[in-house]
Amino acid sequence: MLAARAVAKVIGQGGAFSSTINHPLSDQDRSFYRKLCFGTLRHYFQLDAQLQTLLKKTLSKKDADIHALLLIGLYQLQYLRTPDHAAISATVDATKGLKKPWAKGLVNAVLRNFLRLQDSIDGLPKPTEAAQANHPQWLYLTLQKHWPAAWTDIVNYNNAAPAMALRVNLNRSSRAAYQAQLIAAGIDSEIDDYCDTAIRLRSAVNISALPNFAEGTVSVQDVGAQLAASLLNIDTNMQILDACAAPGGKAVNLLEKEESIHLTAVDSSSKRLLNVEENLQRCGYRARCIAADAAQLDDWWDGVLFDRILLDAPCSGTGIISHHPDIKILRRETDIASFAQQQKRLLNALWAALKPGGELLYCTCSVMPEENNHVIDAFLHAMPDAKALKIDAVWGQQQGYGRQLLPNQGKYGGFFYTRLSKSAMV
Ligand SMILES: C[S@@+](CC[C@H](N)C(=O)[O-])C[C@H]1O[C@@H](n2cnc3c(N)ncnc32)[C@H](O)[C@@H]1O
Repeated sequence: MLAARAVAKVIGQGGAFSSTINHPLSDQDRSFYRKLCFGTLRHYFQLDAQLQTLLKKTLSKKDADIHALLLIGLYQLQYLRTPDHAAISATVDATKGLKKPWAKGLVNAVLRNFLRLQDSIDGLPKPTEAAQANHPQWLYLTLQKHWPAAWTDIVNYNNAAPAMALRVNLNRSSRAAYQAQLIAAGIDSEIDDYCDTAIRLRSAVNISALPNFAEGTVSVQDVGAQLAASLLNIDTNMQILDACAAPGGKAVNLLEKEESIHLTAVDSSSKRLLNVEENLQRCGYRARCIAADAAQLDDWWDGVLFDRILLDAPCSGTGIISHHPDIKILRRETDIASFAQQQKRLLNALWAALKPGGELLYCTCSVMPEENNHVIDAFLHAMPDAKALKIDAVWGQQQGYGRQLLPNQGKYGGFFYTRLSKSAMV
């Protein structure tokens, strides 16, 4: 019932999925709830295509919870080891919790009909290729267009549970020493080749199981995101701006790299900025945290130029769908152009706050060139004092003036980085 409400929020109201539950649940129930929600969202397009062939008439918007419940039922029947009769009876029972007893017969009939048709010779009609691949048509085609050699890897990554990666604070432990602690705690892991702070776990664990997590020896962060701190090229006592800082993964990483920096962390969401403060506190660091639209310099900037700026721009998140499967349902093709507009606006405005001779690192967790090299291309054409610096790296591939890490082998999400330097001549 809780899972149906959470999935209904995404498919009915277009809201982002949040795995936070305000109900007291045992660890086992919580983990089952997460499995149902993530599994159903990951397989949404295939499950929904099946459901539409099983329903006599489309459910109305106010019954998005029943729609979600049916998808969860279909997911359980096909992907979990729950016996069929138990899955059907639990799904039918959930109609009571949703206070929609009228839907009992419908849920029962649809799920039983599915089992019958699945076993029959004709079976269910085949969904479209995109639905079978669990992607909306536009995204499926766009990935094929932009990444003719890599799109299947990207699609497979998007549909799988992500690898869990840790960032070790090298001031507090070495990777080898922390890995030994993980072994002692019975957690299987491997050292990452791309990033000197990263350890990947072979399967995800609850953060409460991670040794010294509360003390900030370690944080959870995708390997691709951990690459930012080295690319910003920071030095002692520099004035640094993290312009879109929440929830603070990269901000803390910068301080772990060089504690003497003066870090200003801006984010337009005051709620999300609280997560930056929590992360700083857990890890024992300080920064000046400001809730503001970073592009409106007059609202928050004191005029002291920054040596380095990190612009981790708001983006489509198409590089991290494995972590956020709701992105496949929520994003529209037209969103890409509006993200690109926001990115250009932020980049153009923040350039004025960078010291001559300073550097700005632009990054996104997107695999869409419109949000990546196209933004940089337009910027470099418009700003005569801007120059792109080469990123020499073993990871990713050169894309225009930047470097794109693509989802591969289930180990990495998709991230784009460009280093920009401002001419020292005024
Ligand atoms: C990709 S996330 C940043 C992740 C963060 N750098 C980290 O590593 O934890 C983008 C952030 O940009 C913020 N944002 C969006 N528009 C903004 C704006 N105009 N000014 C400042 N922050 C903005 C969002 O609230 C969101 O927290």
